[in-house]
Amino acid sequence: MRFPTYRARRLRESPALRRLVQETRLAPSEFILPLFVVPGYGIRQEISSMPGQYHLSVDQTVEEAKAVVDHGIPAVLLFGLPATKDPMGQEAYSPTGAVQQAARAIKQALPTLVVITDVCLCEYTDHGHCGVVEGNHIVNDLTLELLQRTALSHVEAGADMVAPSDMMDGRIGAIRAFLDDKGYDQTPIMAYASKYASSFYGPFREAVQSTPQFGDRRSYQMDPANTREAVREVQLDIEEGADIVMVKPALPYLDVIARVRQTTDLPLAAYNVSGEYAMIKAAARLGWLDEERAMLEALTSIKRAGADIIITYFAKDAVRLLERGGL
Ligand code: PBG
Repeated sequence: MRFPTYRARRLRESPALRRLVQETRLAPSEFILPLFVVPGYGIRQEISSMPGQYHLSVDQTVEEAKAVVDHGIPAVLLFGLPATKDPMGQEAYSPTGAVQQAARAIKQALPTLVVITDVCLCEYTDHGHCGVVEGNHIVNDLTLELLQRTALSHVEAGADMVAPSDMMDGRIGAIRAFLDDKGYDQTPIMAYASKYASSFYGPFREAVQSTPQFGDRRSYQMDPANTREAVREVQLDIEEGADIVMVKPALPYLDVIARVRQTTDLPLAAYNVSGEYAMIKAAARLGWLDEERAMLEALTSIKRAGADIIITYFAKDAVRLLERGGL
């Protein structure tokens, strides 16, 4: 098929034709919106590093969750901020923590919305690391116990799914066994399976004040240079019982998403992280990018790479735009 017999532009002539031959389509049903729950009442405070995203008290989280349902988005991913932080991250597994209260309140008000909770300690520890610290080390196996307790407290509060993001070895198996033992064998786990030590978490860390107080996360999160390791991490989490696997971040790791897609038939999620969101927001504010076009192009690329599920702060904006017929 060569020019002039084949003319690729024939199918690009009109919007209707372009729609007809479009290979990748975004739908509200594949988005998850992350929410940041804080202690208190009546709080809805914009996060400066993430314009359009808010610190929400439990009551306001329920309001936001209603908007999520109205947009046709099936799920939220809850992050929590504690009233006080300590070395063992105790509020992470407190039944009265912000996430636990929010899970309870959302499920009561909106039983059909899927409530997923992020399981990690870094928002709750005073040192900002995702695990128990001894000297300069993050101790793996001691951390597992705290993660198990955290996951159980979320599920007991009504969470439909837990999403461990800590990157300790063996945590998927440990949490799976613990939940099964407590009678929650029907609760799925979405594993942050290949999570990279990324600079693109910057705005998020500002939002939850979880920047490590010493060192960095490179002894547990992955080296951005590695792909085969991502495949191994995903395989391990599947063997340990993950129901959904995730690649995070998304845009700088589209090749990893595509590669992982080839290695598993499980649902694959990709996390379009805070830095990816902030970059587009900031450039748009400066008039350097068209925010809507950049957003849809970015989200489409994540889907095109092979993700089934996209966790994104753009979820509501994207749905509104798609409902207007896209770009
Ligand atoms: C917690 C966690 C992080 C993110 C999700 N869960 C931060 C980190 O690992 O430092 C990042 C989310 C984002 O940047 O949007 N472990």
